[in-house]
Amino acid sequence: MGIIAIIGGTGVYDPSMLESIEEKQLMTPYGEITYTQGSYHGKPVIFMARHGSKHSIPPHLINYRANIWGLKKLGVTMIISTTAVGSLNPEFKPGHFVLTDQFLDFTKSRVNTFYDGGKKGVVHLDVTDPYCPELRGHIEAAAKELGLNVHNGGTYVCTEGPRFETPAEIKMFHMLGGDTVGMTNVPEVTLAGEAEIAYATISMVTNFAAGISETALTHHEVTEVMKQLSDSFKALILKTIDR
Ligand code: HPA
Repeated sequence: MGIIAIIGGTGVYDPSMLESIEEKQLMTPYGEITYTQGSYHGKPVIFMARHGSKHSIPPHLINYRANIWGLKKLGVTMIISTTAVGSLNPEFKPGHFVLTDQFLDFTKSRVNTFYDGGKKGVVHLDVTDPYCPELRGHIEAAAKELGLNVHNGGTYVCTEGPRFETPAEIKMFHMLGGDTVGMTNVPEVTLAGEAEIAYATISMVTNFAAGISETALTHHEVTEVMKQLSDSFKALILKTIDR
């Protein structure tokens, strides 16, 4: 078994759930990354805060290639990431956990591949199963043991951000089959695919999306709900690592 990495999204910045933690840097061909090396019950685990430890990097400026390249270099074979999401599906309520199995890509300006032609060649990644079914199964089983509200499967709409969506956009995403909306899963999931790292994401529903919710959405609302979910999330990650 290789090394597990956790990529913490909004509200998940604290690696202290791990043991023997040490912050480190690594230079990649795409820039420097910062990560925390640690372990849990003897298994090596790497933690990375996607937006930086102080939430200073917005979704469209995250260096997705450096992060995934670095994790590959460190020997990571499995990534469990977290994403805060708005819900378009009445059954996916705030406080629920969704193990995304498909995405709709509405990003606009991101470099989304390691393969730009030239010496590296032209690669067309198969994304029939972008999110590892086996890893999702382990997370689902752990979530059920903990009594969490978990849905295994759901389509994540990735927007460019950093703004939230208009109600008209949310209506369109709903018509297209979207269940949740967030800003960071693409290209993270496909770069992990190119790097041949098994990838799953735990989407935590923080709100109903614009136009479904009766009130205007703020980043504060998202982070407040994430704070409430953070203990359940930590327990879920640790139970999954133990499996
Ligand atoms: N839209 C986009 N990203 C989000 C949302 C949302 O409603 N909630 C949490 N992250």
